[in-house]
Amino acid sequence: MSIGEKNAAEAHSERGAQLGGRPPGPRGLPFLGNLLDFRRDALRYYSEWSRQYGDIVALRLGTWPAVLLNHSDYVEHVLVKNARNFIKFPFFFRHVREIFGQGLLTSEGELWHRQRRLAAPAFHAQRLAVYGDTTVRFTERMLESWRPGDLRDVHVETTALTMCIAAKALFNAEVKKDVAEIGQAFNAIVEEIAVRLRRPFRILDAVPTPGNIRYVRAVHRIDRLVTKIIRERREEGGDRGDLLSILLLGRDEENQSMSERQLRDEVITLLVAGHETTAIALSWTWYLLAHSPDVDAKLAAELRDVLGGRAPTVSDLPQLTFTQQVVTEALRIYPPAWGFGREALADCEIGGYAIPAGTTIIISPWVLHRDPRYFEHPTEFRPERWSGDFARQLPRFAYIPFGGGPRICIGNRFAMMEMILILATVAQRYRLQWHGRGPVVPLPSITLRPKGGIRVQLAPRAR
Ligand code: HEM
Repeated sequence: MSIGEKNAAEAHSERGAQLGGRPPGPRGLPFLGNLLDFRRDALRYYSEWSRQYGDIVALRLGTWPAVLLNHSDYVEHVLVKNARNFIKFPFFFRHVREIFGQGLLTSEGELWHRQRRLAAPAFHAQRLAVYGDTTVRFTERMLESWRPGDLRDVHVETTALTMCIAAKALFNAEVKKDVAEIGQAFNAIVEEIAVRLRRPFRILDAVPTPGNIRYVRAVHRIDRLVTKIIRERREEGGDRGDLLSILLLGRDEENQSMSERQLRDEVITLLVAGHETTAIALSWTWYLLAHSPDVDAKLAAELRDVLGGRAPTVSDLPQLTFTQQVVTEALRIYPPAWGFGREALADCEIGGYAIPAGTTIIISPWVLHRDPRYFEHPTEFRPERWSGDFARQLPRFAYIPFGGGPRICIGNRFAMMEMILILATVAQRYRLQWHGRGPVVPLPSITLRPKGGIRVQLAPRAR
């Protein structure tokens, strides 16, 4: 089927209307539903179910009824056309409340609306130019410690780099000294959340299980850093024009400033959301490049032609078309936000099927991005596919690494700019040669981390 065809959605609708009720789906176990499959290998089962049952699949996650949406039109219906009927995934957010609180990622309603409006100016084009300079400066600083022949885990390196960039760009804070501690704390949090998501029952945060204890300790460590960042800025005073100033100086309609707790939640959310996904996307980009010498050579040629050895700037971005295609394609094959969800507030209909209030809606960029109806040879790394008007012809919600609708990632343009500039800065100097054993397995936790990291050896480029 060619790109743009909506037959599947239409056919499904008709079938739904004929059948009336519940969409088809895999049989579940008593009490557990499909949780065991989800736990064993969510990426594989989501893909299999979409192939087997089609564009909308009924599941049960423990006692929760859920549907997996595998068609661009249905995703658009939930994220945009009928967005008011869906809230973010309470099933998931109850597990991350301790760390994100009521920040932008997790809040709803009027609070979310106000905070999103407040934070938006920090992501306007003029600010992005400043963030671009920070990105290149910090990447060069990282490269000062790199030597030809070094063995590196590029996931570890980029996580430290993007954390420093996010802290500096958004909050004007230097966190180089804290990176190892924060990285460890954040790993503990991600691991515990992955366990919680797969558990068929809920254990309250207050119960002192080893996982809960590690989680709470890790949250405290991150809290300490964030409190330090906020305190230092308060002591400094003034308006630096960055996100932290916007948050500190912002006033609501009643001229009230943000509460300490709200400020903490926003800073943590943006620090975490602002670096983790970007680092993962870059790690997978290098993994793919290390296995695709032709693509890597074409990338190096573009960088030579456009930059001729000098550092990139934001104004080079329009010329770095292939570099952008490389990042776009890597985000397609390994979308860091591999799955996200909503919950229906009221009964509704999707594709002709009745969806009762309270149903969990699962949207998986992993599945959509690998659908052969939208992408020919979907598992192949082919940045050239993004040439010409391919993106314009694609159904709008077939490619959603940053989500869509009102809750689209606030940092999407920042992230794209950052990834292209980091890739351009590093790839001019080094080819990252694969030094791992066997294929790297993607770990579907909150994000799609590469299990065991991405081990590479630094091969200098001929200047
Ligand atoms: C490659 C990098 C990134 C990817 C793949 C990514 C992906 C996403 C996705 C899919 C969502 C929507 C989730 C949903 O609808 O449930 C989201 C939301 C969000 N992202 Fe990103 N993100 C990235 C980088 C960033 C950066 C750099 C920042 C901040 C500097 C950021 C901050 C946020 C925030 C605050 C939200 C919540 C927005 C809202 O609900 O209003 N992200 N991101």
